[in-house]
Amino acid sequence: MNGTGGLVYEDLEPLYDEGVIQEKVADLAGRISRDYLGKEIIVLCVLKAAAIFAADLARSLTIHSRLAFVNAASYGTATTSSGDVAISRAIDIDIMDKHVLIVDTIVDSGRTLAYLQKHYRKRRPASIRTAVLLDKRTRRTIDVQLDYVGFEIPDRFVVGYGMDFAEKYRNLPYIAALSAD
Ligand code: IMP
Ligand code: MG
Repeated sequence: MNGTGGLVYEDLEPLYDEGVIQEKVADLAGRISRDYLGKEIIVLCVLKAAAIFAADLARSLTIHSRLAFVNAASYGTATTSSGDVAISRAIDIDIMDKHVLIVDTIVDSGRTLAYLQKHYRKRRPASIRTAVLLDKRTRRTIDVQLDYVGFEIPDRFVVGYGMDFAEKYRNLPYIAALSAD
């Protein structure tokens, strides 16, 4: 596989290489830039997993944007989320009357994004939309609105491009499934 940055692990099965990811990011950024033409958006990055996706996405936008960060963690067993969402870092800019784009790398049960949408809607932004690179649609337990979706993926636990397994693999430039999963 090309674009794996030279890092190959035997316990991983590569799914999307760097080039494929970057093409999709450019495609999403193009759609977002067209939809918000003439407006400024707040790119709200859901840490930690979205750090890399949001950085790439923001750099591909052709509209004005500000960056904000929220640390959301859903606790559970290693490869499934429990649904209890904890926000441990609130965003530091006023979102009232602003256009907010929540950015996460992956949506699983939907609880994290549903929680964040509800939380930030209370602060009366002009609009809230959500962008995700990966959608594990078959795992959804909560109906959550997704405005920009990169890839729909089957129910496999994936790592890389910001996503971890016990904090490992976030720095991989590609996305892979755990072979055991
Ligand atoms: P949800 O609240 O169940 O939608 O889970 C969303 C969060 O769980 C994401 O922001 C990720 O941090 C994490 N997550 C879900 N699926 C995966 C995966 O396959 N690999 C790594 N992290 C995942
Ligand atoms: Mg995690």
